[in-house]
Amino acid sequence: MCGIVGYLGTKNAAPLLIDGLRRLEYRGYDSAGITVISGRSLCSAKTVGKVELLTEAAKDLQGQGTVGIAHTRWATHGEPSVPNAHPQFDCTESIAVVHNGIIENYSQLRKKLEENHRFLSDTDTEVIAHLIEEYLIADGSFESAARRALADLEGTYALALLFAYEPETIIAARNGSPLVVGVGENEYFVASDPVAFLKRTNNVLYLADGEIAVISPDGMQVTDHEGNQVYRETVFVDTEQEELGKNGFPHFMLKEIFEQPKTIQETFNERFDMEEGTARLSVIDDLFPRILHSRRITIVGCGTSWHAGLVGEYMLEQYARVPVEVEYASEFRYRDPLLTPNDVVIGISQSGETADTLAALREAHRKGAVVIAICNSTESSIARACDATLAMNAGPEIGVASTKAYTSQLIVLMLLTLALARKKTMSRDEGQLLIRELRALPGKIERILSDNTAILKIAEEFYQCQHFLYLGRGFNFPNALEGALKLKEISYIHAEGYPAAEMKHGPIALIDANMPVVFLAPRDHTYEKILSNIQEVKARKGKIITVADEDDHDVEQLSDYVIRIPKTIETLTPLLTIIPLQLLAYHIALLRGCNVDQPRNLAKSVTVE
Ligand code: AGP
Repeated sequence: MCGIVGYLGTKNAAPLLIDGLRRLEYRGYDSAGITVISGRSLCSAKTVGKVELLTEAAKDLQGQGTVGIAHTRWATHGEPSVPNAHPQFDCTESIAVVHNGIIENYSQLRKKLEENHRFLSDTDTEVIAHLIEEYLIADGSFESAARRALADLEGTYALALLFAYEPETIIAARNGSPLVVGVGENEYFVASDPVAFLKRTNNVLYLADGEIAVISPDGMQVTDHEGNQVYRETVFVDTEQEELGKNGFPHFMLKEIFEQPKTIQETFNERFDMEEGTARLSVIDDLFPRILHSRRITIVGCGTSWHAGLVGEYMLEQYARVPVEVEYASEFRYRDPLLTPNDVVIGISQSGETADTLAALREAHRKGAVVIAICNSTESSIARACDATLAMNAGPEIGVASTKAYTSQLIVLMLLTLALARKKTMSRDEGQLLIRELRALPGKIERILSDNTAILKIAEEFYQCQHFLYLGRGFNFPNALEGALKLKEISYIHAEGYPAAEMKHGPIALIDANMPVVFLAPRDHTYEKILSNIQEVKARKGKIITVADEDDHDVEQLSDYVIRIPKTIETLTPLLTIIPLQLLAYHIALLRGCNVDQPRNLAKSVTVE
């Protein structure tokens, strides 16, 4: 997944483009490049590595021009290298292309073009530049040549195109990858995410799949894939500037971990009906009867969002008594799932742009199921593909490792569970108790966060270990998976999560004095069983880190380290036990010198399959 930015206006383009790339680095950061138009020629710079390296390489472009495009890359085709960095060019270097997505038929196109064109990269993107070059010879007009080239493409793209001989034009096109246009005062931005230009304008036009925007100082023309004029209002995107900064934290990840008391409040805000002891989710009012009487709920997602779905399964089945299945979106989409209009499919996605989750939801929609998104961006591709979107309201999550988004997803799932359960067997009193417990969560999370230094001490003990095991049961089994994912994706330590009882079926062979084992052991209905599992690890000299209730002294003599959490009802324990695991992963990664906000090989949203 990559980040693209374009600018056309009256200001010096290079610094605005590079600043935009910085704000999109969460989308990929293995190489970066920029092209501005100066006179009737393209001036470019490209580097391997992060955007800050491009700043230096592009210093000669300052003041060169007021129209340009730029790109930060997460490699799909072709390794991270200067030739493979975008922009990509045609043979004459008068056409420049930046691209996010995958051109599925690029090898066939390249084979045909190679007869008369010289390719310099291994990317799929380069074929677009040569296709436009080819059509320009026949056609003469940049716009019509671009249209013809786009018509040849199969796959997904968000594109920004420049042509040196039409220096006051940018062409933007979207198909399957996010692309927006920022409309400012005598200036336009094109970007993968509005966050790239919100410093300059909050007026955002969201392009839809198949649409092309031709932008010039005279204005912007948007047409659909048949060339019909599209008239759409811009949306005012009100993201406060400070939300985009670190607010004094050393990393976005730590900021977002510490934001969770506030963000879960934002997520459940105004969604409670205390009198009735239920949740109010007005966006699904029309669909509620179908959801309430559905024969099954299937939850699809990837990574952390899939883990949230697993917690949702426990919630919904326990309280709403509805059968739930949780599926990896990437598997679900390809196995011709058995769905009927009596099914509900919920897609969980922080970014709203994960390709596999989007495809899974489109497949469910095609089969007539009710399709609902739990998403942090109500304007995203996933939100647009669904019948309704339950907003997470967690604010922009910049750190690649998902933290506040996860707890917000759990809150939305709990609200949905409450709304359904109160129409079934849950009493008003039980609903009111649940609401009180939900409202108490921010304060309880604050108390865990105040233990940050103690968790750092544990990290100092274990940061050089090569393997970790995370074990939990019931509502906290998914958190064992999530805690393991947090650690491995930012510290690069191998970590596995398991249902604690599963340890006996193999993983226990891994236990020795070098193996730290993290147990999630709040006093719930499986507590006694977890104690036995802790004993089993202790008997094999494993190092034991236990997350336990603050008044639980039974675990002390069994554990090398205990991290305390306030008590809450069993269903809500995952919202508390995950906090220490986020902090533990953060500190261990830092101690290992890793880049916690932009871990190697990763991107914030995987918009490719
Ligand atoms: C989580 O820390 C990872 N960054 C990753 O697993 C992520 O959850 C996954 O790619 C899904 O992203 P989404 O929620 O934006 O769809």
